[in-house]
Amino acid sequence: MTRNAVYPGSFDPVTHGHEDLIRRSLRFVDQVIVAVAADSSKQTLFSLEERVALLESVLDGIPGVSVRSFDGLLAEFARANDALVIIRGLRAVSDFDYESQMALMNRQLFPELETVFLVPAVHLSYLSSSLVREVASLGGDVGDFVHPVVEKALAQKFIR
Ligand code: PNS
Repeated sequence: MTRNAVYPGSFDPVTHGHEDLIRRSLRFVDQVIVAVAADSSKQTLFSLEERVALLESVLDGIPGVSVRSFDGLLAEFARANDALVIIRGLRAVSDFDYESQMALMNRQLFPELETVFLVPAVHLSYLSSSLVREVASLGGDVGDFVHPVVEKALAQKFIR
């Protein structure tokens, strides 16, 4: 039986922190389906198509990884994709409230679905897509935090 995991998020844009968690997940699951939320309540910098395309470029060639967009309930997306695991990152205690609420709600909606929390590499533990967007928008160097294709895409969004 293939073990599928869903790794959901906005990925606005994908960072080295996301890549790190995907590689860690592949140590205990066979397939990671990166699930890009279409109907995120957040106003995103990159369109859904752009976020998916950036993920596809960054993750190209990693066996066992696919990228899909989804709308509606994450629990239903997991069910439809035969996934019994949701991967989420926990960087700091401040992430915990929201993450535990989501995990419990998803379990309520799909009892066989387990949320697995992963801690990123320590040098990536302060990283977030929102900080990367902010630094890039102010002309800062984000080369240590994102893949070169993402760096280029950010530079195009913030031509000064
Ligand atoms: O990267 P983010 O923005 O923290 O990701 C949040 C996301 C997309 C995982 C979450 O908002 C989500 O699961 N949305 C799908 C709708 C859904 O299932 N809502 C109920 C969650 S308990």
